Amino acid sequence: MKLLIAGGAGYIGSVLIPKLLDRGYEVDVADLFWFGNHLPTNVGILSKDIFQLVADDLRSYDQVIFLAGLSNDPMAEYSPNKNFIFNAAAPAYLSYIAKIAKVKRFIYASSCSVYGYTVNELYDETRQVGSMYPYGISKLQGEQAATQLIDKDFSVIALRKGTVSGYSPRMRFDLIINTMFKNAMKSRTITINNPSIWRPILSIEDAVTAYIRSIEASYGISGIFNIASGNYTVGEVGDSVKSAIEERLSIHINLCIKHLQDFRNYKVTTEKAQNVLSFHPTGNVKSIVGNLIDNMDKYEGWDNPAYSNIQCFRALESGIEIHDMASTAAMASSAAGR
Ligand SMILES: NC(=O)c1ccc[n+]([C@@H]2O[C@H](COP(=O)([O-])OP(=O)(O)OC[C@H]3O[C@@H](n4cnc5c(N)ncnc54)[C@H](O)[C@@H]3O)[C@@H](O)[C@H]2O)c1
Repeated sequence: MKLLIAGGAGYIGSVLIPKLLDRGYEVDVADLFWFGNHLPTNVGILSKDIFQLVADDLRSYDQVIFLAGLSNDPMAEYSPNKNFIFNAAAPAYLSYIAKIAKVKRFIYASSCSVYGYTVNELYDETRQVGSMYPYGISKLQGEQAATQLIDKDFSVIALRKGTVSGYSPRMRFDLIINTMFKNAMKSRTITINNPSIWRPILSIEDAVTAYIRSIEASYGISGIFNIASGNYTVGEVGDSVKSAIEERLSIHINLCIKHLQDFRNYKVTTEKAQNVLSFHPTGNVKSIVGNLIDNMDKYEGWDNPAYSNIQCFRALESGIEIHDMASTAAMASSAAGR
């Protein structure tokens, strides 16, 4: 089976793609390579913006997967106009040309952030969505544009993922557990901005499993699926990160509890994904921290701007090459003995 993954050079794609190659899939990636290229060499590369693709480019693929766009709130707030173009218009366009090209399935990287600030009940996919911020609105628009194309010959699966965490060769330290881990290692303190807020957490391994189950599901299956390893309050996440690090590394970690207003609060049920896609998550906060510790020799400085999407994006917008920033930061960090 031949797959095209738009945005496949990012954090999730860089873990997903080696697993797809192991399973015998042929994989091409269309990407702008904002964060470099950490992919295996046997991946086909289309160094292109999604908007440069036309239907003819997609005719040889069985499935097209969208992992592109501006992938967090700070990027979306920094550039709301680009956010709506890359997160809403790009998946609308890509799913449209995929359907014209007779691709059998389109998989869309949606987000639980579409739920907004909820009333502390467990949400399934039929519940009212209600985000009022650019990232959440645009992710919903992308999802709606793609799913309205579903018919008997064109399957669309939208995965509403919780916040992903864990190690990727294209590392991000701007995701909840990854950030807490970085701060704990760097300053021995985890800051919890609001301990009562609920967040679905998703280990990167479970995220990869969700994509594999979606790719391998029978073509009669389409729809929207919540995907998470579990629901936690941010306070519980902080406690679990602290105890997982203390247990593994025998160091003491402090907690700094704040009570800042947040505009996202939601917890989701993944029952539909379990029943329809056979998605059974195995990750939890402890296993995610274990995965981050296991890969500690691969990080090139805790404050490397390459690990922060908003820092990369700001640099790209002002014409600075992120690779230059990253190597400068790595040199500074190694000179300072980390
Ligand atoms: N990481 C998470 O916690 C999370 C949670 C829920 C949903 N998502 C969604 O999953 C997807 C992947 O997330 P990630 O963390 O891997 O993102 P990422 O920021 O690491 O990677 C995004 C990739 O898309 C590419 N890209 C962006 N716009 C493009 C365009 N127009 N044409 C071609 N390439 C383009 C970038 O160069 C980058 O390689 C995103 O759509 C994100 O919104 C992520």
